[in-house]
Amino acid sequence: MKISVPGARRISTRTATAAGLALAGLLVTAAPAATAAPMAAPPTLRSAPSAVLAAPDIPLANVKAHLTQLSSIAAANGGNRAHGRAGYLASVNYVKGKLDAAGFTTSVQQFTSSGATGYNLIADWPGGDPNQVVMSGAHLDSVTSGAGINDNGSGSAATLEAALAVSRAQLQPAKHLRFAWWGAEELGLIGSKYYVNNLPSAERAKISGYLNFDMIGSPNPGYFVYDDDPEIEQTFKDYYAGIGIPTEIETEGDGRSDHAPFQNVGIPVGGLFSGADYIKTAAQAQKWGGTSGQAFDRCYHASCDTTANINDTVLDRNSDAIAYAVWTLSAATTVPPAGTVFENLADVTVPDNGAAITSSVTVSGLTGNAPPALKVGVDIKHTWRGDLVIDLLAPDGTAYRLKNSSGSDSADNVIATYTVNASSEVANGVWKLRVQDIASSDTGYIDSWRLTF
Ligand code: TRP
Ligand code: ZN
Ligand code: CA
Repeated sequence: MKISVPGARRISTRTATAAGLALAGLLVTAAPAATAAPMAAPPTLRSAPSAVLAAPDIPLANVKAHLTQLSSIAAANGGNRAHGRAGYLASVNYVKGKLDAAGFTTSVQQFTSSGATGYNLIADWPGGDPNQVVMSGAHLDSVTSGAGINDNGSGSAATLEAALAVSRAQLQPAKHLRFAWWGAEELGLIGSKYYVNNLPSAERAKISGYLNFDMIGSPNPGYFVYDDDPEIEQTFKDYYAGIGIPTEIETEGDGRSDHAPFQNVGIPVGGLFSGADYIKTAAQAQKWGGTSGQAFDRCYHASCDTTANINDTVLDRNSDAIAYAVWTLSAATTVPPAGTVFENLADVTVPDNGAAITSSVTVSGLTGNAPPALKVGVDIKHTWRGDLVIDLLAPDGTAYRLKNSSGSDSADNVIATYTVNASSEVANGVWKLRVQDIASSDTGYIDSWRLTF
């Protein structure tokens, strides 16, 4: 895959610098280092112990909720979600509904196999370079003998949740993101072969890589990474190295899932797998836990492949690994994570019984609106805080009252953190703290204030 894999970016949750303090008399507005003029060129953000990776933690509960739905769909349709059965189309419609609601452009591709109509579901996330497509997929069909929750509700649900995380983040990746749910894998990779065979060669050439997720929640799990494209493989290995879990190369049958048709036409592929009917060795049980001498999935292609046939830990980790790979391989531009602080450390005198004054904080590098619980930290030194009326002004001028005056409140200083529902305000722009002293004799100044996004 022709991709540059950026190092995991870490972002300091506090961006104000001591150096900033030295800029006496200047408005000291801390911003992400990328835009902080006085700092050296590269955006080397000081990492804090609590720094986070840009890719999100996929909620296991969400993935499992999709599995519960797929299980119900099977139960309502004769016990399976197999090609040509009602449970398959119901599964497609479930996944499609979630994607449509999240802003994906979806399409259903029909094909015929064994005398029945099959369906591939394709979902494109708007934006990114159309000539560099990072594609992720999972087969959505089960065998006829059961609900197919590990094979392959697991890959389907985790891929869906990664896509929904892209939407929640309103990710703006450099590359175009596409997701697929394949039909009739269990009949011989029919859906994915149909997709690849019907893709014009010019379109094939645009696919930078295809990531496959088939059986990623096995009850007696292994941690297997496909060994094909080195960069995709390394991306998954990086994720697992980061959480200290050893992986092995997937060897349980090459070409046994939907990556094979892509691989066969020269598209770089990769993927994750937690094991099917191969037996876990003693060495594998030693490093991963579980039971040696037993299959990774004793319910492989059996009626017992139900919601009980899932190991939560491996499903959780593989779901996070998918998100990590999608974020990393699409070279998504990172935005400061929740918790980024923008602050102004410059002192501003508040005139006694006088006009309101303001102090500004410039917010940049964020996307979308401010959060519903924007934290406004205020440090005002004053000898009678009841004199003070304090507002936060959004970039468009909307005022949010933080504190009213109260003549009887004779205590010193306003050192407080206010929570403002700023979700109707665009995050980026110049925010102001407006302070007015409405009674004479006691005086003070804004010492500092900050916004935590
Ligand atoms: N659905 C696949 C199959 O029935 C499961 C599988 C077996 C698999 N071995 C694999 C998936 C190796 C990925 C990689 O063949
Ligand atoms: Zn499968
Ligand atoms: Ca006063």
